[in-house]
Amino acid sequence: MFEQQVLRPEEFALFKKLMYERTGIFLNETKLALVANRLRARLRLLKLPSYRAYYEYARGHEDELTACIDAITTNETYFFREPRQWAYFETDMLPALLRRNAKTKTLRIWSAACSTGEEPYSVAIFLKEHLPPGWRPEITGSDINSEVLARAKAAVYRPYAVAKTDPALVRKYFTEEKTDPEGRPAAGSEPRAAEGYRLSAAVRAMVRLEPHNLLKKKPSGKFDVILCRNVLIYFNDESKRRVLANLYDALTPGGYLLLGAAEGMLGMNLIFKPLRLSVYQRTE
Ligand SMILES: C[S@@+](CC[C@H](N)C(=O)[O-])C[C@H]1O[C@@H](n2cnc3c(N)ncnc32)[C@H](O)[C@@H]1O
Repeated sequence: MFEQQVLRPEEFALFKKLMYERTGIFLNETKLALVANRLRARLRLLKLPSYRAYYEYARGHEDELTACIDAITTNETYFFREPRQWAYFETDMLPALLRRNAKTKTLRIWSAACSTGEEPYSVAIFLKEHLPPGWRPEITGSDINSEVLARAKAAVYRPYAVAKTDPALVRKYFTEEKTDPEGRPAAGSEPRAAEGYRLSAAVRAMVRLEPHNLLKKKPSGKFDVILCRNVLIYFNDESKRRVLANLYDALTPGGYLLLGAAEGMLGMNLIFKPLRLSVYQRTE
């Protein structure tokens, strides 16, 4: 029975509406096969006969609705993504922030769609390397997807995640976990979340991870820097405007917003000043 499951256009429309309402993610018709593939395992697990039946089930079960959203979102990320922005952070943004916050010696940074944690942990490593002694950084990582947040908390990464990171930093902040040829933990070691590179406890302790939906306002104070990279590309103009307005509210005057290199502002630069490399500044 399960071999014949097909996601029909009218069923796709239900998931499309659901995703848009819940997350702001806009799925155009080219995403039909992607949605079908990503949800197929859920249907099988629950032994449901059709995508329609799965939709009805998910609507009635909040846990499954979360799993459905988790399955459809795209979570690709890695440490020190967008290297030119990190260089700009070091040469321009950080010196300006150190001057501006010299009295309080605090720095609040929010990675607003942090996926499995590589982005906020990159911020933590970056600040460990560049922040003068005596400063108190506060780093928050958030995402709508509960499953990726659990992986962020485990903080054990595949080689892919650190492939573009300076090897000296990898040696300094990660422990390489040995696995046997089948990929299992070596004999005598405790069970692991996954084999690979385990991030040091000191870096993990610098980042607070919490669930947050970008369509909602962030209640907890203002940030000096917000990274919201490689997520707005999945949104349509209307939800993008909503998110950008929320992020504007969450920034201190003079604070910086970093988008993904491929992402634009949609005329919202009326309230943000474009600097360079998809970096924007709240002006007042
Ligand atoms: C492609 S990843 C980007 C990760 C990281 N920012 C980077 O650039 O490498 C996009 C993330 O956005 C999250 N996301 C999608 N819609 C969201 C929403 N409405 N609120 C918060 N996070 C969302 C997804 O769950 C996913 O983990």
